[in-house]
Amino acid sequence: MTAPTSFAPLSFDRARFDRALRTASYGRSLDLRAETDSTNDDARAAAQAGVAAGHVIVAESQRRGRGSQGRGWSSPRGGLYFSLVERFAASPASLPPLTLAVGLAVAEAIEVFAPKERAAIKWPNDVFVQRRKCAGVLVESALLGARISHVVIGVGLNVARDAFPPELADTAIALSQITGAPPAREEVLAAVLGTLEARIATFRAEGVGPLRPAIEARLLYRGERVRVQGERGTLLGLADDGALRIDQGHRVYEARSGSLEPDSKSEPI
Ligand code: BTN
Repeated sequence: MTAPTSFAPLSFDRARFDRALRTASYGRSLDLRAETDSTNDDARAAAQAGVAAGHVIVAESQRRGRGSQGRGWSSPRGGLYFSLVERFAASPASLPPLTLAVGLAVAEAIEVFAPKERAAIKWPNDVFVQRRKCAGVLVESALLGARISHVVIGVGLNVARDAFPPELADTAIALSQITGAPPAREEVLAAVLGTLEARIATFRAEGVGPLRPAIEARLLYRGERVRVQGERGTLLGLADDGALRIDQGHRVYEARSGSLEPDSKSEPI
């Protein structure tokens, strides 16, 4: 765990966040940091130290923000970087589609601040607006024997940003670029925690099944040609367990891992 630095002042307004928060438990316990390495690492340490489910760590910036598949997550001030501790009595096998449930909640919250937009879920862990990445989800879990002891749900959301590094310039977008003026991060965090609490309550009670139609309706590239795990075809939707279903003509391929990419320039199969 990294101690907050004293020289980077906090601009996150705790009172404004408290006024906006509508949840029963998520975010009622909040650890606010000016800067840290990774809120996911901090949340894991907090979970191991015994914090209750619903505890949130939010940082103004991260020195070593982590993304999926070992990638980094660019985390300058102006973005929203937080991690939530959850505790599930579930088997590890049931957990992968939780990322989709979180993506759905993030997409719904984004639309509160960008109501003219349709936020899309790029399987498995990205939220896109205008076909550019606006947010990413990193779910990590720890086991106690064969069961899950805790889950850390990390979300990075581009809120206020004028420019991205060159390698992201064509593929990333911030809420400020969509709406003109950036919404307050305190209100964005309160909104995301609200949608998360609702969607994760469903997930924990019934799994991803009841959420599947809402996720599928937002699935980026649905009906389009895609590539994943070296396989190509037309993206049909989701299987019961959240796997991607891809129509290859002679069969329907189901992908449970890998990186999904559009395949607009492919030759017919
Ligand atoms: C991805 O799109 O690859 C996932 C990005 C997840 C970034 C968030 S920011 C808050 C939390 N802390 C981290 O180090 N990562 C997640």
